[in-house]
Amino acid sequence: MTFPETRMRRLRTTERMRDLVAETNLGTSDLILPIFFDETLSKPTLTPSMPEILTHPLAEYEKISSDIQNDGINSVILFGIPSRKDGFGSQAYAENGVVQKAIRGLKEVSDLLIISDLCLCEYTDHGHCGVLHGDTVDNDETISLYARTAVSQADAGADIIAPSGMMDGQVAAIREALDDAGHKDTAIMAYSAKFQSAFYGPFRDIAHSSPGKGDRSGYQMQCGNRREALREIELDISEGADIIMVKPAISYLDVICDARSSFNVPIAAYQVSGEYSMIKAAAANGWIDEERTMMESLLSIKRAGADMIITYFAKSAAKVLR
Ligand code: PBG
Repeated sequence: MTFPETRMRRLRTTERMRDLVAETNLGTSDLILPIFFDETLSKPTLTPSMPEILTHPLAEYEKISSDIQNDGINSVILFGIPSRKDGFGSQAYAENGVVQKAIRGLKEVSDLLIISDLCLCEYTDHGHCGVLHGDTVDNDETISLYARTAVSQADAGADIIAPSGMMDGQVAAIREALDDAGHKDTAIMAYSAKFQSAFYGPFRDIAHSSPGKGDRSGYQMQCGNRREALREIELDISEGADIIMVKPAISYLDVICDARSSFNVPIAAYQVSGEYSMIKAAAANGWIDEERTMMESLLSIKRAGADMIITYFAKSAAKVLR
């Protein structure tokens, strides 16, 4: 049957009708808010390239956790900016490192689900995600430092460890170290398909984590490789990843979609700093409607197949969803 018997507009006539046939739903429990703690700060600070996103001093954890939970957000991913950086990123795995302190603080005052980003780039003086030998990051030396970092974050109370360095074997090394340390129930959210992306620019302004020399093309994936992304995800699942991630989100919806149809693990997508700032900048100019663009971008990421979204819009979106 076709037109005039079939009329697609019948199911679009009223809001109730449209709600009834909605295929994709977004809820606050799908949203994960990134939070930055900077050990060098004494008061919250804004970064021009990321409108409205504060970097916090450690002392603020109590206020932050009540603000977030009042806004209806229950999951966060933490990033730390240390006061000292060195060649081996040693503050990443220090017992009293910035992220370890932030995790302990938040856990003490809240029941937030805490995901801890695990990488060395915020902690190394050269800005690369691991130990440098000449111009290359040494994979195997780096993953043993990741394993130490994971245990220190789990000791502090992290619920989920999220390795973002794109080293080979990182998930297996972390799983083994966590199990050996008795953290059998600490989950791993693997940044499996993380592309080398210009959309990370504003994040690096906050974290002061741009590589001093060279770029991340020796470890992060190249933009055009869709099949390779599936191999990365497959390997991470076989190494023990509980949740896999595709990052960035909007320019990589095909990869999210492929992952959804190939694997049965939960899929996270990271709507990264540049994706956020583009929307904020265009909206600030009056060129697009901020709220509608935000909601459309988030819904499209879910439609592609993501189960959860890490997004700097988490609080604003939660306000709309309430
Ligand atoms: C650390 C890390 C980065 C992001 C998340 N974890 C930066 C990078 O790879 O340079 C980017 C997040 C964002 O842009 O919002 N490796």
